[in-house]
Amino acid sequence: MPRADDSDHTDDHTELMALAVRLARGAGALTVRLRADGRADGGTDGGTNGGADGGADGGAEGGADGGSLGVAVKSSPTDVVTDVDRASERWLADELARLRPDDGLLGEEGAHRPGGSGVRWVVDPIDGTVNFLYGLRPYAVSVAAERDGQVVAGAVHDPTSGETFSAALGAGAYLDGAPIGGRWVAAELATAVIATGFGYDAGVRAGQGEVLAGLLARIGNLRRLGSAALDLCYVAAGRLDGYYEHGLKDWDRAAGLLVATEAGAIVGGLRGRPPGVLTVAASPTVAAELTTLLEELGADDIAELYG
Ligand code: IPD
Ligand code: CA
Ligand code: CA
Repeated sequence: MPRADDSDHTDDHTELMALAVRLARGAGALTVRLRADGRADGGTDGGTNGGADGGADGGAEGGADGGSLGVAVKSSPTDVVTDVDRASERWLADELARLRPDDGLLGEEGAHRPGGSGVRWVVDPIDGTVNFLYGLRPYAVSVAAERDGQVVAGAVHDPTSGETFSAALGAGAYLDGAPIGGRWVAAELATAVIATGFGYDAGVRAGQGEVLAGLLARIGNLRRLGSAALDLCYVAAGRLDGYYEHGLKDWDRAAGLLVATEAGAIVGGLRGRPPGVLTVAASPTVAAELTTLLEELGADDIAELYG
């Protein structure tokens, strides 16, 4: 919804959103091409024509051929990165350096540029790397633009469906350019479809499992899609009634949270706080019930595991 203090920048936000969409689609097309080629060096054109062949024939067709994807582990043996993650981030960084050389950049796989324009891009080059590696749907490229520390535009592109979610602060949320929001299925938490995700640390997961065990008896059903960015966008689109997860990083949620907020979802953390260690996004109908239940189930205690 438009807010008075955002109005001066709405055009600017919309322009940043349009660029975020182009970048997310371009990087997504590159991930599809590299998976199909069984290589991850970006090819001789550096992926600059990546956006042209993006579509719905994406990553799920390649099978679980991790061997040719250059898999390495990060924080734990289950926290993986592929050469395609790195190639996607490199392409995003190169495009941003070419198109907006004064902007800052933060990327999950190490891209970092301070910038001096007040705009910083926050990118997750593949959100859902485990799905990508196993040939499962969905996965996404997430691209967000912050101005002076506030997320003002974002796009989340799923190469396996061809869908692109986007939002601009004060200017709404969109799926493939059509407005979304305000439509959810469940009238109460007891019938709501809720999604969540799990961290890569086994100890944290054990705690997440305890919270989930209590939640399962009180909700309609559960989904674990494997991409936090898309979980948030699915809440925006009414495909989920709610979503929560511990330990998300900025690149996981920056674009998706804006899409959810602009679609009219309620977004926050526990006990009235903004999203922090715990991120909750839900329809206005079930948000309070979901948040209260998470508080009752001790989700704060899990948050402490993150320090
Ligand atoms: C992960 C995915 C997953 C979520 C994890 C994230 P990655 O991102 O979003 O759904 O449960 O918390 O780390 O590692 O695939 O970019
Ligand atoms: Ca991620
Ligand atoms: Ca990632």
